[in-house]
Amino acid sequence: MTHRKSWAEPWKIKMVEHLTMTSKEDRMKAIKEAGYNTFLLRSADVYIDLLTDSGTNAMSDVQWSGMMMGDEAYAGSRNFYNLEKAIQDHYSYKYIIPTHQGRGAEHMMSQILIKEGDYLPGNMYFTTTRLHQELAGGTFVDVIIDEAHDTESEHPFKGNVDLEKLEALIKKVGADKIPYVCIATAVNMAGGQPISLGNLKDVRALTNKYGIAIVHDMTRVAENAWYIKVREPGYADKSVKEIVYEICALTDHATMSAKKDPLVNIGGFMATNDEVTYQKAQNMVVVYEGLHTYGGMAGRDMEALAIGIAESVKDDHMRARVGQTVYLGEKLLSYGIPIVKPIGSHGVFLDAKKFLPHLSQDVFPAQTLAAEIYIESGVRSMERGIVSAGRNKATGEHNRPKLELVRLTLPRRVYTQAHMDVVAESIADVYERRESIKGLRFTYEPEYLRFFQARFEPIS
Ligand code: F0G
Repeated sequence: MTHRKSWAEPWKIKMVEHLTMTSKEDRMKAIKEAGYNTFLLRSADVYIDLLTDSGTNAMSDVQWSGMMMGDEAYAGSRNFYNLEKAIQDHYSYKYIIPTHQGRGAEHMMSQILIKEGDYLPGNMYFTTTRLHQELAGGTFVDVIIDEAHDTESEHPFKGNVDLEKLEALIKKVGADKIPYVCIATAVNMAGGQPISLGNLKDVRALTNKYGIAIVHDMTRVAENAWYIKVREPGYADKSVKEIVYEICALTDHATMSAKKDPLVNIGGFMATNDEVTYQKAQNMVVVYEGLHTYGGMAGRDMEALAIGIAESVKDDHMRARVGQTVYLGEKLLSYGIPIVKPIGSHGVFLDAKKFLPHLSQDVFPAQTLAAEIYIESGVRSMERGIVSAGRNKATGEHNRPKLELVRLTLPRRVYTQAHMDVVAESIADVYERRESIKGLRFTYEPEYLRFFQARFEPIS
């Protein structure tokens, strides 16, 4: 009989960062001052920070030593060429333009490819991505499979595109009104749900038929690749690295927020195989970001990113990364807490509609739940529901997403299994007192990406 069932992290800890322990009283004061918006809390008031996996990763000693090799030349830094090579080797794209982070790349991609009146199909929206599409005159159309909007569906690839929805849109508006289909890997707003390679190949065949490009939001492509490896028939013996390359090679252009998968704290890039798009982006990047060989990044940061890309596609790393998310998700399920299933890759998503069934969407159940979790234990999470969905561009009404979620997002290589235990236990405590929880109302609502800076007060 073999006892060994567990995985463990393929690293050990060399340096620690102390955390603040606060009292419930401190936290009630802090969340009130933050307008019941976890984005407005000071991080010094947070114990376990699961707000986001964006820029919150722990770099390796190799990445830190890369930081010492920063070539801070204004033009033609050697770190740019290392980064360019890492992207070509791991992600297949020919041309790259660094940006300060993902939305810088989305801005350029949207301005270059979208005309007023265009339609942008995608496998669910992402906040900044859709906003840049709209600012360029386009309209986002959701073509993800219906299962993605159902928190109970156990579909293994809830990031898949519904090909009938996509083809119906092409026939309705005409291929000339669709500059590209936006394909996200490990779909964030669906709960970190993967797209299968089989489905991506079908999307490629359909877009080829109509001469439509694919833009890949590759922010969490390696996490998606892990789920292909463990769930899609025929891929068990392929490495994450090979699968990542295969995914990227099926697409034409890409935007990357390097603050996620590739294990750095800041940075991003736009990538393309098309020379004309590249030339336009090279020209545009000097207006908005910086010269085309740094695009808003320091040389040292480009070096850390080049190294991080290679670390992010290692199987052992990804097994532990996704393994920790699954550990937390299963622990929450063991308390009967409603979460999005199957468990995703970058976080566990609480189903706030089921957690707080007595609250209507108009009093922001997910926003309320995130505030309550913070008050309970100092764990910071994020709303991903009606507040994040914003208002309809034309009618001014709230967009009403089916999914009303609280995201517990796991930074990479930062927290331990014991932290995960504390998180699950304290959410179970909130679950016990759920019936006494009331909703929130706006006291301030910003025009763009309102979830970041909105303020609320409790409904008494
Ligand atoms: N695309 C996806 C799928 C993302 O998750 C993000 C960022 C972006 C694009 C934009 O990149 O932040 O570097 O400008 N997501 C963060 C999050 C903010 O917390 O999920 P960015």
